[in-house]
Amino acid sequence: MKFLKVNDFVNPNYFEQPTVVTEKNTNPQQLHPLVDQFSRTISYLRLSITDRCNLRCMYCMPKGAEDKAKHTKTGEILRHTELLSYEEMLKVVRIAVEMGMNKLRLTGGEPLVRKGLLDFIHKLSILKNLEEVRLTTNGVLLADYAEQLLAEGVRQINVSLDTLQPKKFSEITGRDYFGKVWQGLLKARDLGFRIKINVVAMKGVNDEEFIDFARLALNEPFQIRFIEFMPLGEKSSWDKEQFIRAEDIKNIISKTGQLTPFNNKRDEGPARMYELKAPNGQKGTVGFITPISHHFCDQCNRLRLTSEGKLRSCLLNDRETDLKALLRNGASEGMIRESIRQTILNKPKGHTLENDLEKGEKPTCLGQMSQIGG
Ligand code: 5AD
Ligand code: SF4
Repeated sequence: MKFLKVNDFVNPNYFEQPTVVTEKNTNPQQLHPLVDQFSRTISYLRLSITDRCNLRCMYCMPKGAEDKAKHTKTGEILRHTELLSYEEMLKVVRIAVEMGMNKLRLTGGEPLVRKGLLDFIHKLSILKNLEEVRLTTNGVLLADYAEQLLAEGVRQINVSLDTLQPKKFSEITGRDYFGKVWQGLLKARDLGFRIKINVVAMKGVNDEEFIDFARLALNEPFQIRFIEFMPLGEKSSWDKEQFIRAEDIKNIISKTGQLTPFNNKRDEGPARMYELKAPNGQKGTVGFITPISHHFCDQCNRLRLTSEGKLRSCLLNDRETDLKALLRNGASEGMIRESIRQTILNKPKGHTLENDLEKGEKPTCLGQMSQIGG
């Protein structure tokens, strides 16, 4: 048996127990820096560019943060110096890519609100061995940036949009920007981006629109992905009554046509994909992301870097490694590499949301979505 050394910069809560590399996981493949203790190869980094956002989605920005945000001109929550700089992010991404990571998604908050993003994407795009850079956005600024994003090599965009009704959009997000998002979607479509729309499914909020979203998938080249509502963040508005399982969403949208499952391309990540075929022959693609009813932890290939520079190996687990502290204390590249490697090795096996729910507890992870980036 071999005990790994815990480095000083790791959050003390991170390793409740020392990591033990046991007999069963000492095979050479397991010693590859990107393979965790459960034989998952971690190849995909999600990078939260900023925790700031030009929307205030009810399930994302906790009430306290919203109040605090009101007191600042920019709606900032973390001070600028608390955010990783682009140079720091670039360094981490470069090291992660050298270690074998090859997919990168930029998230937020809202990534397009941070100045200098295009220049940063340009620098990322010239990193060797990194497949294309992808972006998750709320779409508010998409019309303004779509052409430049295309010029920097971005080809796929995920847009978070929970309603197709302008009034409801304002209620959910606190801002009257539906028109801007729609304009952004059409512009990105016309420029030829591959577009996925993420819909957080909430009973009593947008369940009456699932059919409209399914029709959108039939009429436009948008892949619609319904996401089960998760209890995230300390002051999450999550409520059991609002939760709706993917199976129920599927039943609702099957009224618009026949759903036929198809094998996930590597591209689809955790979504279960279906072809939707309407009686008139029109086709579209819909997907379901089921973190609660059917979790996909055993195939998870993700690592997250929060806007505050914390490396997080599971969205739903608050264990984090403080990479920013390393970066700002003159750590060598070797130390950063080791820290990434240890974070991967200690990636939790999975989350327990479903069990917590069954026990009647309101499960929650304290990390705030706007900092972690989804
Ligand atoms: N449950 C499910 N999805 C969420 N998202 C944000 N908060 C939640 C939540 N509590 C979604 C966003 C975005 C994606 C990254 O995560 O809408 O599309
Ligand atoms: Fe902004 Fe996305 Fe959070 Fe909405 S869910 S407030 S768009 S970061």
